[in-house]
Amino acid sequence: MGYVGEADTTQVLLEGLARLEYRGYDSAGIAVVAADGIASRKRGGKLKVLRSSLEDSPLPDSSAGIGHTRWATHGGPTDENAHPHLGDDGKLALIHNGIIENFSALREELAADGVTFLSETDSEAAALLLGRYVRETGDLTKAMQQLVQRLEGQFTLLATHVDHPGVVVGACHNSPLLIGFGEGENFLGSDVSAFVKYTKKAEALGNDQIVTIRASDINVTDFNGKPVTDNKKFEITWDAAEAEKGGWPSFMAKEISEGPEAIRNTLRARIEDGVIALGENETLTDEQLKNLDRIIIVACGTASYSAMAGEYAIEEWARVPVEVELAHEFRYSNPVLTENTLVISISQSGETMDTKMAVQYAAEHGAHTLAICNTQGSTIPRESDAVLYIHAGPEVAVASTKAFLAQVVGQLLFGLHLARVRGTMTDDEIRTVTADLEALPEQLAFTLENADDVRELAHWMSDTRSVLFLGRNVGYPVALEGALKLKEISYIHAEGFAGGELKHGPIALIEPGQVVFVVVPSPRTQPTMHSKLISNIQEIRARGARVIAVAEEGDAAVLPYADIVLRVGTTHPMLSAVLSVVPLHLFALELASAKGLDVDQPRNLAKSVTVE
Ligand code: G6P
Repeated sequence: MGYVGEADTTQVLLEGLARLEYRGYDSAGIAVVAADGIASRKRGGKLKVLRSSLEDSPLPDSSAGIGHTRWATHGGPTDENAHPHLGDDGKLALIHNGIIENFSALREELAADGVTFLSETDSEAAALLLGRYVRETGDLTKAMQQLVQRLEGQFTLLATHVDHPGVVVGACHNSPLLIGFGEGENFLGSDVSAFVKYTKKAEALGNDQIVTIRASDINVTDFNGKPVTDNKKFEITWDAAEAEKGGWPSFMAKEISEGPEAIRNTLRARIEDGVIALGENETLTDEQLKNLDRIIIVACGTASYSAMAGEYAIEEWARVPVEVELAHEFRYSNPVLTENTLVISISQSGETMDTKMAVQYAAEHGAHTLAICNTQGSTIPRESDAVLYIHAGPEVAVASTKAFLAQVVGQLLFGLHLARVRGTMTDDEIRTVTADLEALPEQLAFTLENADDVRELAHWMSDTRSVLFLGRNVGYPVALEGALKLKEISYIHAEGFAGGELKHGPIALIEPGQVVFVVVPSPRTQPTMHSKLISNIQEIRARGARVIAVAEEGDAAVLPYADIVLRVGTTHPMLSAVLSVVPLHLFALELASAKGLDVDQPRNLAKSVTVE
């Protein structure tokens, strides 16, 4: 984050960093331009370590500063490796997101000139070079233009310099940077949450641009210094308060509770008279949709499990082959893409580098691209042909919950739209699904209000060392998501399997007392799958497993076979993932809380992984 203005610079930066901490919380640091030079403080550990150091001994007043939270790539999360890094004359401070791939060559070049390094990071080389270029050019912006020509990899850089007080210069290459426009003050941030408390007016820099901010002036150029005037300004549609805990014990607890509202917002204004009404920029043209012969959904982590749930529905309804690929695997697998391929990306943040590279690759190879995304102004939607925003509201906890629900719903809307355009479903058939879609928020609210049994279960199981999850059809990605959530925040070994796969290997894991969650399909709408899964349950029960079933209300057939049954509402089978995943999200939250862990910021993770 960067700030220029008359407010308390350190406080503004600390506030912003608190909102950006989801991007990394290994270490944090701030630098301000003071009367007698750069004043900087940086600490390994979470932001609170830096905050308490600054309370004990504050930095001087300043009208310009930069701040950073880190997710370590090169060099461990120590005080020395934390950003900002200083130039060798101590007059300049620089922060960096991304990876500088040619940093070894740059370090050797600088070392040959007798420059000493204080950290193990790739970023420090950029700080040292920038210092040299400021001495040569006498200008921070021109020096940044020279620096970016020397760097390979991907980066967002911000720098401030004592000879240029009241100025912060930023640059970005394949990594986001946004401007926040204030009154007599201006902001830079790697996402709008950094400055949303102070201004709702924002602009995302395009790729390969440099920005220079002063209190009353902003100047954007390309890497060669040519002015850029066609970046689009936008209004941030959510409020800073929405990204605050508001009395909840954790962001994750709050965000799970916001599931019903998230779905309402995803659906809002997109269903008219029971059929889907997507806006012009939210999908491809009818002509393009009719010509599609293949859809590939790319995503990472939780988003990839939501994609698997979407895959069943889109294929079932629109009769187009759909496959889900992990974005990083897709990108390097030489995929077959044509002008009749649609690559859908799913990303809460819109910044996951693996997903972004997959989208770029798809576009370069002639496929259409559609982003299903939660974050306004983020990079992936900007680089896609169309974007369907899910409007789930800010999600802060590292483990994604409400966004998962809204991502599934976003895909369901797209699938129904596609089915209508391609004539594979009648409006009446679509109406039966949209009626169930519109009922989801209330059904979900009911599940959330009646979750005491999940809580009890989690507390009772807080010493468990391994949990398995089974599901079939859309219940399979739910099983995978249940396992991921438990791994991410409870550090418990957990694995999800497809029910049918059990006998092909995983059943060897079953020993007396092993807890297995089973996501049970509806006996009404998926009777064959239901009975197949009941057989799977019997197979594991015979070997001593304790079975916790997530089953539809009224499913009595499951009772004799499960130790515990968690009930969810009845809905269309393709919508059931949205309901059945919630007890699993709650279970992970409660179990991690019972273990006394930090559920919002689990070890080693970051919410938005902006390196490949
Ligand atoms: C990281 C997070 C995961 C998240 C994934 C995709 O790995 O730790 O929780 O699911 O990124 O994030 P995205 O913002 O692309 O949905």
